[in-house]
Amino acid sequence: MTESHGTVWTKKDLIAIADLSRAEIELVLDTAPQFVAVSKRSSGIKKVPLLQGRLVVNWFHEPSTRTRTSFELAAKRLSADTLSITAAASSSVKGETLHDTLANIEAMHSDVVVIRHNCAGAPLLLAQHHASHIINAGDGRHAHPTQALLDAFTIREHLRRRRNDPNAGLDGIKVAIVGDILHSRVARSDIRAFTKLGAHVTVCGPATLLPPEVEKLGVTATCDLREAIAGADVVYALRIQMERQAAGLFPSLREYIRLYRIDNDSLRHAPEDAIVMHPGPINRDVELASEVADGPRSVILEQVSNGVAVRMAIMHLLVNGGAAS
Ligand code: NCD
Repeated sequence: MTESHGTVWTKKDLIAIADLSRAEIELVLDTAPQFVAVSKRSSGIKKVPLLQGRLVVNWFHEPSTRTRTSFELAAKRLSADTLSITAAASSSVKGETLHDTLANIEAMHSDVVVIRHNCAGAPLLLAQHHASHIINAGDGRHAHPTQALLDAFTIREHLRRRRNDPNAGLDGIKVAIVGDILHSRVARSDIRAFTKLGAHVTVCGPATLLPPEVEKLGVTATCDLREAIAGADVVYALRIQMERQAAGLFPSLREYIRLYRIDNDSLRHAPEDAIVMHPGPINRDVELASEVADGPRSVILEQVSNGVAVRMAIMHLLVNGGAAS
């Protein structure tokens, strides 16, 4: 089932949401439920053979627990062979270029290479010069497309359940993204995905953490949390990267918490049925209070479960394209 509303997947790589049409995003979201079902099997094998005999290489140059394990599990549930390379243990520390490392990986006949790199643009550079399907698992501040796709899927599933409508989509909903927008590749990819799917996005944080001219991405920007979350269907909290405070981008953590923390008190200004999301890892009780992270509005662990299915969908589409499953 790789076709949805007549859209057929033709892309070799997944580098950024900006490269995808609305129909391609919807194709990924429509392909994911069959993989949710695979992971939920209570008896039998939690696997399908769609990537059997293929080699998926996870190549991470930055720390990651969730994203790396999610990709690894997704590849395994598609029956692929998997290899993990971490920067500290790879020849990059001996001066090997990214191209040479990938050429060596490809000499072992890799099919999919999942790369996370602190330099924005590294996955695109590799995709342009190598035959493997490249998936960007986060590059610098630029993009984190699989996070955006799993976030969009989680929101859509929630809306479908809440409205009891199997065709509900993000059209016309309001999403508030709160925190360090400036340094966040998740925010950038989420904004692209949510707006392409018809959502209204408001970004909110201290002025120093909002990118200049962010409105050009088609969002509303505000420093006022109440205004941001009023009428929101989704409140999306981002991690406050502690190193930013040392750089003087906000006066104090206490001040940030007072003005921007998502907790039961600030959530009084959001609709009662608004859901709360976070990409992880959470700084508990900084950007998000534990009472909310662990409370009934939180869909954070659903994001994690859906992440595996959405990454299975992406790998299946990239490798098997328009072929029937
Ligand atoms: C994010 C990342 O690494 O970009 N986390 C993730 O992938 N789940 C967000 C973050 O580190 O704050």
